[in-house]
Amino acid sequence: MPQDLRAVEWTGTGLALIDQTVLPHRTETVHVRDVDTLVDAIQRLVVRGAPAIGAAGAYGVALALIQGEREGWTDGEILAAVARVRAARPTAVNLMVCVDRVTSRLPEGLDAVLDEAAAVQREDVEANRAMGAFGADWLLDRLRLERPLRVLTHCNTGALATAGWGTALGVIRELHARGLLEVVYADETRPLLQGSRLTAWELVQEGIPHYVQVDGAAAGTILRGEIDAAIVGADRIAANGDTANKVGTVGVALACADAGIPFLVAAPTTTVDLSTKTGDDIHIELRGEDEVLAWGGVRTAPAESRGHNPAFDVTPGRLVTGLVTERGVLEVAAGQLPGEYLR
Ligand code: MRU
Repeated sequence: MPQDLRAVEWTGTGLALIDQTVLPHRTETVHVRDVDTLVDAIQRLVVRGAPAIGAAGAYGVALALIQGEREGWTDGEILAAVARVRAARPTAVNLMVCVDRVTSRLPEGLDAVLDEAAAVQREDVEANRAMGAFGADWLLDRLRLERPLRVLTHCNTGALATAGWGTALGVIRELHARGLLEVVYADETRPLLQGSRLTAWELVQEGIPHYVQVDGAAAGTILRGEIDAAIVGADRIAANGDTANKVGTVGVALACADAGIPFLVAAPTTTVDLSTKTGDDIHIELRGEDEVLAWGGVRTAPAESRGHNPAFDVTPGRLVTGLVTERGVLEVAAGQLPGEYLR
C-alpha cells in the first residue's frame, strides 16, 4: 500500500474511508458525512483494526458536531451521537480512548476537535514507526539467526488497520526494509478473510514474499519448524498482559509456546487498558451467525445449524513472549506487565 494512501482521511467536510469489505478486487472509497453512516461503516468493517477505528471514532466527534449544527441538535443530542460512535464495536479499546480524548475538546469548538483528531492520527503513525524498529531489534536480538526470518501473522495489522504503516505488519515491513525477512505466512483469518484479502494485498504492494495459509494450518506450520516467530496485533491488552485479538490468535500463541519460538504482540499504548484487570473482563464481540454459516453469500452449513462467531479471543499473558509498544518491548511471559511502564 503506498504510504500516502490512508484508510481514514478527513476531507474537510467528512471522512473518506477505504472500503475494506471489497478489497483486494475493488478499491473504493466510502464518504461519510453523518454519524449513522460512520457507525454502520465501523460495524460492517468498512473501516476496521483497532487503531483505525480509533482514528475514525476521533473524527466521528467532529462529524457529530457538524451534523448537530446542520440539523439543529441540542448539546445532549450531540453527546448521544458521540456515544453511539464510541459503542459501535465493543472490543478494541482504542475506539473508546480516542473518542474520549477528542470529546474532551468539544467545549472549545470544531477547530479544537479537528486538531485533536489529527493528533490522534499523527501519533498513531509515529507509534507504529517506533514499534517497527523496537520489534525488529528485539526479534533479531532474541533469535540471533544467521539468515533472514520467516514469520507468521494473523489478521491484518498494516496501514489499513491503523493510521498508517502498521503494528505487527509494521515490524514485518521493518524487517523487510532491513533485508532480514525471508517470507511471511499470512493466516487467511476466517470468517472475513482479513489475512487473505487485506494482509496479502498490503504485502503485494510492498513486494514482500508471502504465503496465505488457512488458519487451521498455522499450528502445524509452527510445529514443523517452518516459522521463527509469530507477530500479531491487539484490540485490548489487560493490566495482566492478557491480550484480545482476532479469533484464532490464541491457537497461534499456544503453538508458539509449544515450539519454543517467540510470540510477539505489537500494539500502541492506546490499546493497553489498565482499567481492565484480566482478559476475563474483556467484552468479546459476537458477530452474526451468517458470517460462519455461509461462504461467499451461499449457505454452507445445514439450515438447522446455529453459528458461533466470536470476533476475537484472549491470549493469556503467560503466552505473550514480547509486547511491543512505542515505548519499547515488555517481556510479559517473563513477568513484565504493561502497568510497570505505562502508568
Ligand atoms: O475485526 P477486525 O478486523 O477489526 O479485527 C482486527 C484485529 O483483530 C487486529 O489484529 C487488531 O485490531 C490490531 S490492528 C493493528
